[in-house]
Amino acid sequence: MVATTSTGRDGWSSRSAFILAAIGSAVGLGNLVRFPAEAGANGGGAFVLFYILCIVLIGLPVLLSETLIGRHGQAAAPESYRKVAEESGASKSWELVATLGVLSAFLVLSFYCVLGGWVLYYIYLFIADLIATGVTGPAFDGLNFEAVDALFPAMIANGPVTVVLNLIFLAITLFFVARGVSGGIEKVAVYLMPLFFVLLVGITIYSLIGGSSQETFDYLFTFEPEKLTGEVMLAAVGQAFFSLSLGVAGMVTYGAYVSRDVNLAGTSAIIGAADTSVALVAGLCIFPIVIAAGLTPNGGLGLMFQTLPHAFQEIPFGSLIGLAFFIMVGFAALTSSVALMEVPSAWVIDQFRIRRPAAVLLVTALAAVFGTLSALSTGMLSGFHPLGFLPMFEGLGFLDTLDTLTSKLTMPIGALLTAVFIGWIADKRLVDSENGLSGGLHLFWRFLVRWFCPLALLLILLGGIFPDRA
Ligand code: PHE
Repeated sequence: MVATTSTGRDGWSSRSAFILAAIGSAVGLGNLVRFPAEAGANGGGAFVLFYILCIVLIGLPVLLSETLIGRHGQAAAPESYRKVAEESGASKSWELVATLGVLSAFLVLSFYCVLGGWVLYYIYLFIADLIATGVTGPAFDGLNFEAVDALFPAMIANGPVTVVLNLIFLAITLFFVARGVSGGIEKVAVYLMPLFFVLLVGITIYSLIGGSSQETFDYLFTFEPEKLTGEVMLAAVGQAFFSLSLGVAGMVTYGAYVSRDVNLAGTSAIIGAADTSVALVAGLCIFPIVIAAGLTPNGGLGLMFQTLPHAFQEIPFGSLIGLAFFIMVGFAALTSSVALMEVPSAWVIDQFRIRRPAAVLLVTALAAVFGTLSALSTGMLSGFHPLGFLPMFEGLGFLDTLDTLTSKLTMPIGALLTAVFIGWIADKRLVDSENGLSGGLHLFWRFLVRWFCPLALLLILLGGIFPDRA
């Protein structure tokens, strides 16, 4: 039987199912791969503290705004924006904000599953290694440093491998999304998220006890204000949105399956807190082993796919811990890719009135085409820089172009417009009846969405896009 929301549509079977699914959407490669990589590339502590500020002062208010629009609309994202606009006597064109979001979600999905495929490859590598070297030993026993280093470039340069892995990851995602909200999407989160947390806590404790925990704290939490440039700030705010799944109509879509009696403010706070804790804990999980192995925690994807495997070479039970680690990353990636696929799928279902499996298949097929370009962009298509004529995208291949385009432009712009929509355009009574806030907290939230979020986002966007003029 499928659970239904008050309007009779398929929906979350309980409040906790919604919370787990939303946390599943939020917690993903963004927290485990992108956050440590961005923190490393953008100066450690300065980035981390600014990131936390962005989450609290911009991310959470927008998260509440998105879930609120979704719950009120009870439909695919653009229709939900339209309903709120119409009931507030505003122009229907506000739905375009969500249409932009749906498009961004689709683009993120298309490259996210390529990364998901890389994670599958590492799961395979560690399984093979475990079989070869046994449970107790360090990882990749027979291989020297250079050979382990070479695994990653060899994989991403291998077009057929990355293309097929991307298709496999897309197919796994499709399998769950096609089964619907309560029958598929919710199930992945309810089963995988608890397992994810057990693995994360276990590996982090191991890493903090055995690794360089003091250096890690210094690295992540020493605030050096001079490192906080316009570009670092934009990177931090982009990371905050990417991590909370905001600005892509994702939380609007998930909010539409929430029943009327759920307090949205409380739930949004739980989701935000969980997501941020996982990002920080991911830092505390990864850096101690990396630093203890005498490696430098440089930013970039090499951290997860090269530096960390080196670190697993140095520790007892390295194969086993490495396997557990990449399985954990795979779980987190899947609960996010499911969310990313649901956004355009829900839109196709509503827009063309076709059945869910057909809609999901259509989205998957299109994502596979874009994904193939992303998968090849680290190999044979590495010279193809689709937006390379713009300074912001100079030298970026297809995958990196989509990543930068979404996290540094369309997500912050979508979030900015959503804040303006809720703060200025939507009917105040409608907003107040949905948000579940009262007293001083309510006034503070209203101030944030009306004034602080739009202005801060505008400044950060301008400062990041035109660094020389800021
Ligand atoms: N928040 C997810 C992550 O951190 C990515 C994501 C973005 C998922 C947007 C859904 C929507 O990995």
